[in-house]
Amino acid sequence: MPVPRVGQWARRWRREAGPTRGRDQTLQGQPVSDSDTANTSGACQAAFHAAFRDDLFAIVDALPGVAGGTVLDVPCGDGFYARRLAARAGARGHVTAVDADGTALGRARRALRGAGNATVRAADAYRLPFPDAAFDVAWSAESLVSLDPARAVGEMARVVRPGGVVAVLEVDEFHHVVLPWPSAVEVSLPAAVRAAAAARYGDGEGASPARRLRAVLRTAGLGPVHRRTYPFDRAAPFDGRTAAFVGRHFAFLRAFAYPHLPPDARAAFDRATDPDGADALLRRPDVDLVCLSAVYLAGRGTGRASTRPASPTAAVRDPRRADHSRTAPVNTRPEHT
Ligand SMILES: C[S@@+](CC[C@H](N)C(=O)[O-])C[C@H]1O[C@@H](n2cnc3c(N)ncnc32)[C@H](O)[C@@H]1O
Repeated sequence: MPVPRVGQWARRWRREAGPTRGRDQTLQGQPVSDSDTANTSGACQAAFHAAFRDDLFAIVDALPGVAGGTVLDVPCGDGFYARRLAARAGARGHVTAVDADGTALGRARRALRGAGNATVRAADAYRLPFPDAAFDVAWSAESLVSLDPARAVGEMARVVRPGGVVAVLEVDEFHHVVLPWPSAVEVSLPAAVRAAAAARYGDGEGASPARRLRAVLRTAGLGPVHRRTYPFDRAAPFDGRTAAFVGRHFAFLRAFAYPHLPPDARAAFDRATDPDGADALLRRPDVDLVCLSAVYLAGRGTGRASTRPASPTAAVRDPRRADHSRTAPVNTRPEHT
């Protein structure tokens, strides 16, 4: 397979990744601000959605209880998932998308324009303006890193009806994006992510909220908890959206973790991510990329033992072929085990 000529690829990368902080500055150990990290993180998330859109929509399509159901998306961000949830909910269902941020709400309203079964409104994830048991499904994606997971999940549990489902899509920053880095980077990156998370969140695992999610869901009175991990595989030569995502991911790592890398790993990182360099990771014709996401599903009990317990032998169906019509109670088992 032809590898894009480096000039083409470098131009695309620069265009998609946008400006990154000057290398000299970070090499001299100057701190990178939280807003740099937040900006690169937000851009990275948009690029993630663009690159893995079909895979992510297949996950949404496989969620139990959505077709014909009442669904809460909290926080909805720009409406990327809410739009698909609304399509999946259909005319008999309804999606309520909430966020605390006005810019995000504006984008979500645009994304959901024309959807007759969706409402976008401002709301605080910690104090949802809905009565108890108002929804069949409460969905939250890629957001717990910016929330107190226990408080947010507690509110989701409150507004889901008995027999309904809380569904959370999360990534773990320690192994969200798997690339064949030079070994100096590969071995140092987890320690740098931990140091960056400790500096930013006061907790070395703060960028990986899914690690504690099972306990959080159970403490909120939800269960059984099912988890399914989704690997999105891509091989070189990458399509434009994947290349754009990788460029954004490099920019995010540069803002977040790079200042915490030791000097030899920084030098290796620079070489691997320099689009004009001979050692550029994405110039290699044999590069594989794996992007890992996980969905946690937890039922809210009906008080009459109607949510069936998980079976370790239960078959996992391909989410692309799943068809879920609404039943009460929603069985969380088949699609994400
Ligand atoms: C990383 S974005 C994810 C958005 C969306 N779920 C997605 O995957 O595209 C996190 C969102 O959480 C929102 N947010 C942060 N704190 C919030 C709160 N207390 N209540 C509601 N939304 C909040 C932000 O405005 C932002 O849109």
